Amino acid sequence: MTIAFAGASPHSTRPRFLVRVAMTDLRRRLLLSSCVAAAAAGSAALLWRRGGPRSDAAAPPPAPTPATDPFAAPLRIPSADGLLGEIAVDGALTLVAKQADFSIFPGAPTRLWHYAARVGERTIANPLLRVRAGESLAVTLRNELSEDTTIHWHGLLVDEANDGSGLHPVAPGAQANYHFPVRNRAGLYWYHAHPHGRTGLQLQRGLAGLLLVEDDEELALRETLSLTWGERDLPLLIADKQVDEVNAIVYREDGADDWIGNRVFVNWTPQPHLDVTPALYRFRIANVANARMWRLAFQHRGRSLPFQLIGTDGGLLERPWPVEDLFLAPAQRADVLVDFAGVPAGERVLLRSLDYVAMENEDESGAFAPDPMGDHPGATPMGAALDVMEFRVAATGGERAASPLVPSQLSTLPPLPDTAGWTTRALRLRMDSEGTWFINDWNFRKDGHAPAFRIERGSREVWEIRNSMTSMPHPVHLHGFVFRVLSRRVSPMDLRARQVADGGLTAQDLGWTDTLVVWPGEVVRIAIDFSQPYSGVQRYMFHCHNLEHEDMGMMVTFAVTD
Ligand code: C2O
Ligand code: CU
Ligand code: CU
Repeated sequence: MTIAFAGASPHSTRPRFLVRVAMTDLRRRLLLSSCVAAAAAGSAALLWRRGGPRSDAAAPPPAPTPATDPFAAPLRIPSADGLLGEIAVDGALTLVAKQADFSIFPGAPTRLWHYAARVGERTIANPLLRVRAGESLAVTLRNELSEDTTIHWHGLLVDEANDGSGLHPVAPGAQANYHFPVRNRAGLYWYHAHPHGRTGLQLQRGLAGLLLVEDDEELALRETLSLTWGERDLPLLIADKQVDEVNAIVYREDGADDWIGNRVFVNWTPQPHLDVTPALYRFRIANVANARMWRLAFQHRGRSLPFQLIGTDGGLLERPWPVEDLFLAPAQRADVLVDFAGVPAGERVLLRSLDYVAMENEDESGAFAPDPMGDHPGATPMGAALDVMEFRVAATGGERAASPLVPSQLSTLPPLPDTAGWTTRALRLRMDSEGTWFINDWNFRKDGHAPAFRIERGSREVWEIRNSMTSMPHPVHLHGFVFRVLSRRVSPMDLRARQVADGGLTAQDLGWTDTLVVWPGEVVRIAIDFSQPYSGVQRYMFHCHNLEHEDMGMMVTFAVTD
């Protein structure tokens, strides 16, 4: 049974001899053509497994067709216990960082590093925390791992002490308290480990969870659309991981780079399905992968089903935007409405990552870099198409009601600020000839943790982030503040096709943001207001959220001062 599952990935026979070359197009062509070849080889292997002779005549009869259904596992939804168990936070909570085995695949269990919580009789792993905007979060982290860890509250407007960055590691056996008011708008945020140099490893092993912030406006929208949380309003936490033949998560501790994986997880379930009714659904999607950017589309009979983007990192947009697909880079969130009402009974809709030009041009030296796929046997290359999960529309369901109309105004955001007179700070994302990533001349590993620059509290700045042409897309992330996107210039074709507003902005740029993709060659300007109700020196980070880039030092510390 385990073998049948392991073979279910269409790319499991991927050749391992691919080389990374300097020229995008050549590399992409290589990867894509080998992907097609591998897919063909993979389906042949599947056929063989289904119908071919079995070498061991004494083997037990095959279990009921797991290999024929690549989406066999039901999607885990927030529940009382276990992974993604839900906790409505109303008081102090302890999260214990530890290891334990979970049954994720058929056969051997999978060891996860995770945050464990106990609430009454309930034992929960990586809980989905629900909190009202304006309320306080009081979480004690107890570290039962054998190395430093933290909890970073991604996207939250907190002071340094509560930011859980690597500046405040929690040693094995020690504990730390995070206690802060939730000053953010309603939206889907998340939390994860953030120890210096080990973030990639700890997230790949599982240390991440979701934080849903709610407010009256948000609850009213749910009511208008008759969306019950946990039924037709669901989180989709998406990640890929490299998993070996005994169901263990693999990570290369020395020099992991762009860590993609051979298995796709949604809500900690490998490539699941969800039974749906022919109605409107809301999905709060969070990409918690180390390095993979997805181009997500809902496909019915091979064609993209239009859906609506209603929110991003920092909550609701002003209005819904019709889209056919979305780029979702590591750490980004998207809040979407998908209407299955038009899908015939009994049919399926596939959530896929469509193929895109990954633009991994990072080798400036022109030399051949180590094989990017060597560490990831069976993984679909970045930018190649990949199935994520499946929605199965009920075969019978009686009368179909038309879905409620989505309000044309969802929320109000302040207009983009007039930034005349603001200080402009230029930040360049680049790699040197040795293959080290930098932000300007700073590399966190080489240059240490001292603040690279200081910003006076209450001042406002435009950050002009420029990615070099020979680079790759970098999802950059700011701690401690959220920002607005002012403009994009020199965007690649894929992005230009998505521009819906002045300044080259896409629908995903139109809300409050904490993580932003800057594509090779692009110049993106963002507006940041450094006001905050804290005093003294507060140190934060700005870094690439490709976790291997972060761990290799593509990160700077900055200080906000009185
Ligand atoms: Cu989500 Cu500095 O991190
Ligand atoms: Cu963060
Ligand atoms: Cu990066």
